Amino acid sequence: MHEASARYLVAFDTFRLPHHLTEVLVLGTGVAGYAAALAAAEAGARVLLAAKGDPAQSNTAWAQGGIAAVLPGTADTPAAHAADTLAVGQGLCDAGLVHEVTAEAAERIADLERWGARFDGEEGTTGEGEGASGPSARGLEAAHSHARVLHARGDATGAEIRDVLAAAAGRHPRVHTWGGAYLVDLLTDPDGVCRGALLYSRGHLRAIWAGAVVLATGGFAQVYRESSNWPGASGDGVAAAWRAGAALQDLEFVQFHPTTLYLAGVPRLLITEAVRGEGAFVVDDHGRRFLLDHDPRGELASRDLISRAIMRHLNRPDVAGVYLDLTHLDAARMARRFPGVVASCRAHGLDIARDRIPIRPAAHYTIGGVRTDAQGRTAVPGLLAAGEVAASGLHGANRLASNSLLEGLVMGRRAGREGARRAAAVKPAPIGVRHAAAEAAAGVMDADDLRASLKAVLWREAGIERTGAHLTGAHAAVAAWERFAWRTPGDAEARWTLLNMLLVARLLTEAALTRTESRGTHFRRDAPQRDDARWLARLVHRRGEALAVEPLAAPAALVTGGPR
Ligand code: SIN
Repeated sequence: MHEASARYLVAFDTFRLPHHLTEVLVLGTGVAGYAAALAAAEAGARVLLAAKGDPAQSNTAWAQGGIAAVLPGTADTPAAHAADTLAVGQGLCDAGLVHEVTAEAAERIADLERWGARFDGEEGTTGEGEGASGPSARGLEAAHSHARVLHARGDATGAEIRDVLAAAAGRHPRVHTWGGAYLVDLLTDPDGVCRGALLYSRGHLRAIWAGAVVLATGGFAQVYRESSNWPGASGDGVAAAWRAGAALQDLEFVQFHPTTLYLAGVPRLLITEAVRGEGAFVVDDHGRRFLLDHDPRGELASRDLISRAIMRHLNRPDVAGVYLDLTHLDAARMARRFPGVVASCRAHGLDIARDRIPIRPAAHYTIGGVRTDAQGRTAVPGLLAAGEVAASGLHGANRLASNSLLEGLVMGRRAGREGARRAAAVKPAPIGVRHAAAEAAAGVMDADDLRASLKAVLWREAGIERTGAHLTGAHAAVAAWERFAWRTPGDAEARWTLLNMLLVARLLTEAALTRTESRGTHFRRDAPQRDDARWLARLVHRRGEALAVEPLAAPAALVTGGPR
């Protein structure tokens, strides 16, 4: 019988598997994965860049919002950007890292422009706010003290960044990109050092041996029924890192976005908050702007407050739906400014000039993940992590809008350089790793039903508003399902993905239950105040250990030494 937390998801013997050697293995093709691959290759390493599906698909490619960066020649400063990030993070950011990342932003934007990125500059495709124009017009977004958010192609900043990074990686002779390669597990030696990964491609397991592995597999917002994320955001990298011995931190902090398109059968497409910045109203089916009852800023209040207000309003017996209303705005300007949003609405029969757009909040960004230091190193030697899969300490208890693409660029580059440095000292070599767990018994549980139940329970009990009683029930349910999910028949990749989602959901609910206060994105109805005396602390999961509460004054318990 499988344990819910077995070290590996599958039985295997590396001496019997086809294998491949590379200096640096990068897993994931979002902004952090590409940035890591390019940095490692530029530092001289041979890089294998693997994606579990189509390398063109990721949360980065879906990102409508922009990238925050202070460029030279403005009244804004990196120190102001850092102060805004720290204020939103509510005491849980790593202040040193925040200052480093915000100071590095202009250089990373220059890299993108050198690779061919074009940021919006003309009227109609500029960001809102201080009305800047020119090659890089800057938008003002919630909780930013200055207009510093760059956009590209109106509402397709992530796609522009992904495209230029993918093209640069494609041109690089030392980067080889491999799509359709699913991460099953990380391979560690008897000393706990990461030596490579077990990937699954076209129905076969393969061992990839590397001097260093960079995880850039993204977050896990797909554990929620309502999610703005691409379908692949299922936490595979977070779960594999935990099984390999890495520390996970801050899993209770999940950012919910208030406005995603809500039509049955249609993916929950994000509708960027810049649409509200342009003057869109949030109304109920009676046409009432009810957000003004909650906050004088109305549609421009914080994401958390708006999400909570919408969910409470929807619970009223006299309210049937909540909508974004753009009908009073200049439709031609909206179409120029938000071509993706307007086209998606049109594709589903909604005309923004005439129709209200049905919306709901959705899980948008998972702040917690694999704990890293400022160079992307995890507690497992040889394993680095960057981007949404990681908890670097940049975001704290909440994420400042448009900081995540920046984090991916900066931390991906650091992890890639660190990976190349390590790979120069540690040559990849096959080692014997064997796992003899019995194969899953077939035909007992229904995977689709388990997945739907997991997503429904997380949304209901561990979502925008939480209570101890509901989290206790959710945690118990998820832990029970995790034991049975080994017995789902059919597609192995689907079963592993479900097991990863269940593992991450169990750890998330445990952390949310433990943190008996409200801070940042974590709102407890039964403990609505922030409690610095008790909870200026990180919650850290390590395999085989009880959840640790680590006060922030204590030094981070990280293994950050050089190659072993
Ligand atoms: C948005 O544009 O509303 C989302 C941007 C972000 O999540 O940073």
